[in-house]
Amino acid sequence: MKGIVLAGGLGTRLHPLTKVTNKHLLPVHNKPMIYYPIQALVNAGIDDILIVTGGNNAGDFLKLLGNGKEFGLRHINYTYQEGEGGIAAALALAEFFADDDKICIILGDNIIEKNIINAVSAFKKQKDGAKILLKDVPDPERFGVPEIHNDKIIGIEEKPKKPKSGYAVTGIYMYDSAVFDIIKTLKPSDRGELEITDVNNTYIERDKMTYEILDGWWTDAGTFESLLSASNLVSKTGANKIG
Ligand code: DAU
Repeated sequence: MKGIVLAGGLGTRLHPLTKVTNKHLLPVHNKPMIYYPIQALVNAGIDDILIVTGGNNAGDFLKLLGNGKEFGLRHINYTYQEGEGGIAAALALAEFFADDDKICIILGDNIIEKNIINAVSAFKKQKDGAKILLKDVPDPERFGVPEIHNDKIIGIEEKPKKPKSGYAVTGIYMYDSAVFDIIKTLKPSDRGELEITDVNNTYIERDKMTYEILDGWWTDAGTFESLLSASNLVSKTGANKIG
């Protein structure tokens, strides 16, 4: 299985911190943000990794990460997203890299405490389709929120005013190669982006979606509050081990 870290977008919710630099280069406790999602993939046994960057300072990723020696890698692949077309638009740029393999995607601002290797192994055995990881959160309205009936996800709403469950869809997604054809059918949402939630809803409609509840803490780091809490969580309990 191949891994993809999505680190494009303009990070406007963190202005002025992201006016001159890329959100994923900002510090989370004692490391640049992007270190955590890369390490999460490596810990799950995924060593063929593509980083989709964009916006400001994209060249700095090369300088920072090089060929991935700090993570025990021999090579990292890079590609560049122009503008802020959405998570699914950033993922579309990975079609050539994926080359019909299954893929595990992690958003560049998502940080987790525990290893996702079991979920990744389960998806390797899953014949086809997709798998997402959910986490119970106090503020589901900030995220994609699943509606669950009889242990099955029947739909996901993006940032709903009235969430239909207390779960967030975390930014860890596993897909088969059908994902790239699905993305080609998407239309931009009201916020002008190709939404990953629309990709997930297509898999749900096809009855091809499985899920697991994520163990340990999970946070994004894309707002001032979550950036601070990410640093605090990492400093208190450590994220998935680095180095
Ligand atoms: O963190 C999990 C949440 O991430 C999910 O629950 C939501 O369903 C999903 O839409 C997403 O929500 P956000 O609105 O918080 O996503 P955001 O725009 O902050 O983007 C998250 C990461 O995705 C960002 O750190 C880099 C990547 N990204 C985003 C965009 C818009 C790209 O690579 N390119 C993009 O154009």
